[in-house]
Amino acid sequence: MILPKINPTTTEAWKKLSEHYKKTKHVHLRELFSSDLSRGKKFTLLWNDFIVDYSKNRIDEQALSHLLQLADEVGLKDAISSYFNGELINQTEGRAVLHTALRSKADDQVFVDGGNIVKEVYQVKEKIKDFSRSVISGERKGYTNKPFTDIVNIGIGGSDLGPAMVTEALKFYQNHLKTHFVSNVDGDHVHEILKELNPETTLFVVVSKTFTTQETLSNALTIKKWFLKHGSQNDIAKHFAAVSTNTQKIQEFGIADENVFPMWDWVGGRFSLWSAVGLSIALSVGYENFEELLQGANQMDVHFKEAPFSENIPVILALLSVWYNNFYGAETEAIIPYTQYLNRFSAYLQQGIMESNGKSVDRAGTRTQYETGTIIWGEPGTNSQHAFFQLIHQGTKLIPTDFIGFKEPLHGDIDHHNKLMANFFAQTEALMNGKTSVEVREELEKQNISEEELELLLPFKVFEGNKPTNTILIKKLTPKTLGSLITLYEHKIFVQGIVWNIFSYDQWGVELGKQLAKNILSDIENPEIGKHDSSTLNLLQFFKN
Ligand code: F6P
Repeated sequence: MILPKINPTTTEAWKKLSEHYKKTKHVHLRELFSSDLSRGKKFTLLWNDFIVDYSKNRIDEQALSHLLQLADEVGLKDAISSYFNGELINQTEGRAVLHTALRSKADDQVFVDGGNIVKEVYQVKEKIKDFSRSVISGERKGYTNKPFTDIVNIGIGGSDLGPAMVTEALKFYQNHLKTHFVSNVDGDHVHEILKELNPETTLFVVVSKTFTTQETLSNALTIKKWFLKHGSQNDIAKHFAAVSTNTQKIQEFGIADENVFPMWDWVGGRFSLWSAVGLSIALSVGYENFEELLQGANQMDVHFKEAPFSENIPVILALLSVWYNNFYGAETEAIIPYTQYLNRFSAYLQQGIMESNGKSVDRAGTRTQYETGTIIWGEPGTNSQHAFFQLIHQGTKLIPTDFIGFKEPLHGDIDHHNKLMANFFAQTEALMNGKTSVEVREELEKQNISEEELELLLPFKVFEGNKPTNTILIKKLTPKTLGSLITLYEHKIFVQGIVWNIFSYDQWGVELGKQLAKNILSDIENPEIGKHDSSTLNLLQFFKN
């Protein structure tokens, strides 16, 4: 079955939600907590090593029940089956969306064009295992017979952000290999990285689903040229590997067949870290840890497929986000991990979420009359507290925020960890409660200041509170919990796309800029500048002269 084309605003649930919003929009979270002492536990989900507390959201039981009704009315249950069963839900590209098959169990069966793709997935996994083991152990060597010391992932977008985020997140589990990421077509990026490298001991992994991406091909060619100043054409086979669906282009580039890792068009770039696109992850943390990452993802897949919606973490988080996006008019969401290891997490999710749900045409081909994809941003806590939290606390915008924290620190520094986590808990409490003018007055009265000064300061020190947050508290940052956490957000994206009646798995919106850049490159490289608006023309003339 293809995905239904239900305009969410025509559902009964939407009407109920609109009315409920009007009735409850001014209710303060403080009131909701004081009127129900069990609220914290009531709106908390426990799953594996996760506790997800969504009680600090501007919802009551009725709002939740309307949101769950919305999920039913838009056909979420059937849509989930279509997703996992490999139906062509990426309709505008005529493709299935099966990153979930990449972390399936060996005896699972998922069919594409009549063939069970799980077999192929496991063949490629074997190849990743053998390759990564031989590089890590030093058995596989460079052209001067030295073991590898450095790995360079050459890719962009989904062929960069996932592996880069995960290798950073799992730094604690890393082996002796140093991993680098070259993505930007800005030559200064690649040349800065090359400065650090010894060609004799560096392995390059070119990752591009299409193998046509300008940035990746330019960087790969620049690196190849640099390499050939040291090694010979024959040595390329030892130092370059590639991950792509486009085997012909890889051959043209000159990469040895044995170093080619296939991927499939049913894996979207931004969901591809679980495939051979994650080769640099397996190289950096070892195959066993890569496998654990996949297992964690698989466990979240099973939870998402099987848990009733009222206990389903991705479903609940997605519906809450719809609540704020479509009823409260919240335009952005912040994601704040309280671990430095996740410092690339929101950048990674920006692609996942915004490339997927940044759409304004619905599945019937009509311009949506309601808001879709949220803007995602964030940085790790506590750094972010000293940067942009002021605006979340006292600004005019409503910014629902996810707080992600871990019970155990990896280096065992309890003193630091207690301080970190004290901030983690304090922030969600402060955002929820705020500080009333009565409380501020009491506080100021204890200080030795005049009445006049007190009155002057008072309004600036009031915190409205009532700022929604989700708290995702996880036992420990491990490959497995990280796999589950990433997957939670992947499925949240899916649910939101279904509710908003959009196609989440294409990305036509990135094409126009690419096309224009091609024309402009020719304007830059040739004497004549083609036809442009007066602004672009002026700028090009300035650049060229
Ligand atoms: O420009 C967007 C995009 O197509 C992403 O969706 C993708 O992750 C990225 O470019 C890289 O594409 P490729 O892996 O084919 O080089």
